[in-house]
Amino acid sequence: MKAAVDEDRCRGHGVCNALCPEVFTLTDDGYAEVRVPQVPAEFEETVRTAVGQCPERAITVS
Ligand code: F3S
Repeated sequence: MKAAVDEDRCRGHGVCNALCPEVFTLTDDGYAEVRVPQVPAEFEETVRTAVGQCPERAITVS
């Protein structure tokens, strides 16, 4: 699984980072970035939760 954050949608709510800091980091400006090219299997379910919890629907997985 790969995860991506749409930088045009992200408003820095930080839910993704709170749920899964192993995959989502926040920039100095407070916006999310994906820190790994491939989501480790043990974090896939948490990343799917983040997809559903992001208020801006900024996270997608493929
Ligand atoms: Fe941005 Fe959504 Fe995370 S708004 S900081 S991608 S929870």
